[in-house]
Amino acid sequence: MIKQAIIPLAGLGTRLLPLTSVFAKELLPINGKPGVEYIIDECIQAGIKEIIFVISRKKNIIKKYFNNDVFYKKIIKKKKDQRIINEYNKIKKFKKMIKFVYQNKPLGTGDAVLKTKKYIKNNFFLMLLPDDLIIKKNCSKDMIAIFKKHKCSVMASMKVDKKSVNRWGIFSKKKNINKFNFLIKDVVEKPNINNAPSNNAVIGRYILTKNIFSKLKNQKKGKGGEIHITDSIKKLLQDGHKIIGHNFRGKYLDCGTMDGYIKSSLDISKL
Ligand code: G1P
Repeated sequence: MIKQAIIPLAGLGTRLLPLTSVFAKELLPINGKPGVEYIIDECIQAGIKEIIFVISRKKNIIKKYFNNDVFYKKIIKKKKDQRIINEYNKIKKFKKMIKFVYQNKPLGTGDAVLKTKKYIKNNFFLMLLPDDLIIKKNCSKDMIAIFKKHKCSVMASMKVDKKSVNRWGIFSKKKNINKFNFLIKDVVEKPNINNAPSNNAVIGRYILTKNIFSKLKNQKKGKGGEIHITDSIKKLLQDGHKIIGHNFRGKYLDCGTMDGYIKSSLDISKL
């Protein structure tokens, strides 16, 4: 059963400066809606019941945004605007399912996930990177269906331009299961173009076994001095864990860069 999702939100968002100098990138509007709400909607539609937000003190604005139901209540008392009532109901629903955990030093995605260890109840959980929006198809839902069939970890994947492999985690394949799924042999975080095993990139949707926590606990800093989830996943593979790579069917939008962020609003407005 996959009922819990982790969303790391403590990153500094330097690729989106100046927009992020005083504001959290995950609250920036994409076609009139905070980016992170697309991720929450994806989780809810995939059957997730609890979402763990990993934030930092600097990003308390995110907690404030989701805990602001009292503010809406006051406005609604004075002004019975249906649009605001709908927003109020939405915020209340989100508030009920979100738990906040702190990562005050930006030590990377692996460290963010480790911070949630004591709250994870089942053997597997979902993890989503909020910079990666996938539209037109619910990637998390499809991955949960794969998990139900194979009872193992699943990671989203997409072919990227060979010249850009050093921007991504990169897989090597053991074998294809079918057109959309393959068994992962190995994964390497941001390899340089000369020793990248392929151009099959890791995209930010992961169904992971709880065993990842024991690897994360001992994980040394990797590329850029950060603790990468990719490096601990590599260790799971070395231990013989089965992990499936899933070539998702939706459209990928990279909201973590300025170009991608601008394009994402245009793409979503056309839906
Ligand atoms: C992270 C992961 C990387 C993955 C990417 C997908 O990198 O570390 O393996 O390919 O997300 O967006 P980041 O975007 O944090 O640099």
